[in-house]
Amino acid sequence: MFDLFADETLYRLLHIWFGVVWIGTLYYFNFMQTPFMAEAAATAKPEILTKLLPRAMWWFRWAAKATFISGLALFWYKYADSMRGGDFMGTGGGMLITLGMLLGFTMYMNVWCIIWPAQKVVIKNAKDVAEGKPANPEAANKAARAAAASRTNTLFSIPMLFFMVWAAHRPSGHDSTSALFWPLFGLAILVYAFFQFQAIRGKLLGILKTVKSTIVSGLVLWAFFYVIVEVLKVRV
Ligand code: HEM
Repeated sequence: MFDLFADETLYRLLHIWFGVVWIGTLYYFNFMQTPFMAEAAATAKPEILTKLLPRAMWWFRWAAKATFISGLALFWYKYADSMRGGDFMGTGGGMLITLGMLLGFTMYMNVWCIIWPAQKVVIKNAKDVAEGKPANPEAANKAARAAAASRTNTLFSIPMLFFMVWAAHRPSGHDSTSALFWPLFGLAILVYAFFQFQAIRGKLLGILKTVKSTIVSGLVLWAFFYVIVEVLKVRV
């Protein structure tokens, strides 16, 4: 009775639910709101920026925090023992969840350290202008910065979700004893670091400029990571 509280089930449910709210809002921003704003009439924009954006940002950033915290709880339940005793990276999906959490944690940091601080300036500027106060010349730069990080998060979300699900539900096989383990793991980290570095710089890469190219790039990045984990046969 009440098995919901017996193991990590509750954390898992909460984690997935918060993740859906967060990534759903991320996709709303990237796939719908941004293209809409690009062609919206000037008279329509202030309402979006002062009334819709703050509400959407509230759900977005707090869902990101809740996803991260519930993810850590899940990690503790599922991996604490292998962290203490076993070969965490070589067996039991340790490398998979490490890569998934690296992407997820990076996305979380991008929300709280780049996107939200920049969007606060954008929202305040829109409110000031609506009240007849002078515009902040920095607002356009901040919007561009938020957009670069948001597109990078959309890119990362595709392989991130793969690692989350694959760590939990990978098919049976064998553990990684490959001599290529660290070189290929290092290559995966380098590719991730390249994209994240551009997001920190606030540079929107050409391949992330449109919705279509961002989704295609996310799938290519996912395929790259997938080949690496298949080569390494990180399975149990
Ligand atoms: C923010 C940082 C995140 C951390 C630290 C984290 C951590 C974890 C951990 C430890 C697991 C358990 C893996 C296993 O069972 O082997 C997991 C599973 C999962 N996570 Fe995350 N996660 C994060 C972000 C996300 C996001 C943004 C989503 C988007 C929906 C997500 C969706 C999932 C899903 C679907 C599973 C599989 C659950 C299952 O079927 O057992 N995670 N995550």
